Amino acid sequence: MRVLEVKGLRAGYGQMEIVSNVTFDVGDREVVAVVGPNGSGKSTLLKAVFGLCRVFSGAVLFKGEDVTRLPPHKRSRLGMAYLPQTGNVFESLTVRENLMLAAHDLDEEEVRKRLEGVLSLFPELGGLMRRKVRTLSGGERQIVALSMSLLRNPSLVMLDEPTAALAPRLVKQALKRVVELRDEAGVSIVLVEQNALSALEVSDKALLMVSGTVKFWGGARELLEDRELAKTYLGL
Ligand SMILES: Nc1ncnc2c1ncn2[C@@H]1O[C@H](COP(=O)(O)OP(=O)(O)O)[C@@H](O)[C@H]1O
Ligand SMILES: [Mg+2]
Repeated sequence: MRVLEVKGLRAGYGQMEIVSNVTFDVGDREVVAVVGPNGSGKSTLLKAVFGLCRVFSGAVLFKGEDVTRLPPHKRSRLGMAYLPQTGNVFESLTVRENLMLAAHDLDEEEVRKRLEGVLSLFPELGGLMRRKVRTLSGGERQIVALSMSLLRNPSLVMLDEPTAALAPRLVKQALKRVVELRDEAGVSIVLVEQNALSALEVSDKALLMVSGTVKFWGGARELLEDRELAKTYLGL
């Protein structure tokens, strides 16, 4: 069974359709990169999959279950995680407080166990626990946000431009760690990225969005090797 299946999705805001007829899927332990020019509807697509904008037609299936009309908190309970580009952490709280908020409904023993797992993925988190999030770097914040979603034991993590706040030299390394998530936490990942080349290099599949529609859906390597598409839409 596919972790995520998106079928003929049309979505947007109010009466405005932004994303048209999008079909793709995500398998177990797969990384799917969503790339395309600015304003092509990548963020809107993630929001639609998580239930945060209007869906006009089409379907979203999560582990075989139709979740198209389910509110976001219910999708989260089923194991779907979504990290928006900004506003994914509480600035005035410490790292520990942020993590505890994400785990508020779990019992102590479970929190301890999951925290251990997250710390083995992100050892540097240990030294940041007492820091207020507002004092952290962009990269450190992303680690906090990712850790918060991992405490929920998701089977799918959707990331909207996780490298946007990073210095260019840190981008590749950060994306490598995203892939480690797949290998070590066993999650499937949808990765929206403006760093198309770096993202495609570490992804299994690729969805190229242009003006709200799918220009390409297939292997990430195939898209990289399609000189025409890569040059026209990704500037590669
Ligand atoms: N909350 C919103 N209300 C109305 N239009 C929006 C909203 N968010 C984004 N849009 C519009 O949707 C289009 C696609 O935006 P977006 O999904 O953010 O693209 P991308 O993430 O690929 O840059 C843009 O034209 C943008 O102006
Ligand atoms: Mg976006």
